[in-house]
Amino acid sequence: MSTATAIAHPNIALVKYWGKRDSELNLPATGSLSMTLDIFPTTTTVTVDGTATTDVLVFGDEERSDGPAVRVSRFLDIVRELAGSDRRARVETVNTVPSAAGLASSASGFAALAVAASAAYGLDLDARELSRLARRGSGSASRSIIPGFAVWHAGESDETSYAEAIDAPDLAMVVAMVEKREKPISSREAMRRTILTSPFYPAWVSSTAESLEAAAEASRAGDVERLGRITEVNASRMHALIQSCDPPIRYLTPVSVEIFDRVAALRASGVGAWATADAGPNVVVLTRPDDVPAVTAALEGLAELAVARPGPAAALVSRTNG
Ligand code: DP6
Repeated sequence: MSTATAIAHPNIALVKYWGKRDSELNLPATGSLSMTLDIFPTTTTVTVDGTATTDVLVFGDEERSDGPAVRVSRFLDIVRELAGSDRRARVETVNTVPSAAGLASSASGFAALAVAASAAYGLDLDARELSRLARRGSGSASRSIIPGFAVWHAGESDETSYAEAIDAPDLAMVVAMVEKREKPISSREAMRRTILTSPFYPAWVSSTAESLEAAAEASRAGDVERLGRITEVNASRMHALIQSCDPPIRYLTPVSVEIFDRVAALRASGVGAWATADAGPNVVVLTRPDDVPAVTAALEGLAELAVARPGPAAALVSRTNG
């Protein structure tokens, strides 16, 4: 038996990934830019067992056989193909981020799984190969392999679509957890609906590609104001795009919108703060570390808050090959 344990953290995109050009390889329509957080880690242990006849997924203390188990097993098939193995595995994963609440649990989940599974199957992958592998599980997971700020290149192919680190100014994020329940429509399904039904999708793709270039330039130059502005505009465009589906999808709740308003009011009072949100009602506020107290004071009472700073790379914690 071989076993490996890995830890990975979620990431929040400043320039979002929304739409695939190849859903088999999980190649995105555009590149994206994110910050890996130092909170809400996922810890995953993969044990490769020569005698087992099926893969087993234990999520928290619950053994699963539904959608997530199928997705994990398909991911393991990719790892098995790389490793030339047909052995099944037991996957035990513990998430500290509220699952499927739009806080990128699939990002930390598949990043931890990519690191643990590749090690348990005896592969020795570098960061780029791990990022490409994690991408196959969930697009945003490609970025959780990387510490701090990362750009996921849209790339031309499987080989060239991976995330890598980018220089960035000193920043923090205030995570406002509006709701912790499971979201009604997964981002995967909502992306599909967007591509099929929104007349605005082509404009989203072209404007996001431009925003990514501008954001990467602002990040390298340490221009917090410009990076912040691009972040809020890009998130607002993504949610407008999602609302333009048929039938429409709306992830933001009145409380989420209230948070966007309070952040705008903070900016009007001179505090550098910019809001973003993924496919769920939670809102994340990008700010300078010194301005975190002003942001948390402004959001007091609206939602449960957590403060994040740039986090570490996905990492192998232990490995025993037998
Ligand atoms: C709104 O990475 O969860 O968080 O590739 O289908 O697994 P799949 O999608 P996923 O989508 C993330 C969407 C987002 C934006 C982002 O993180 O860039």
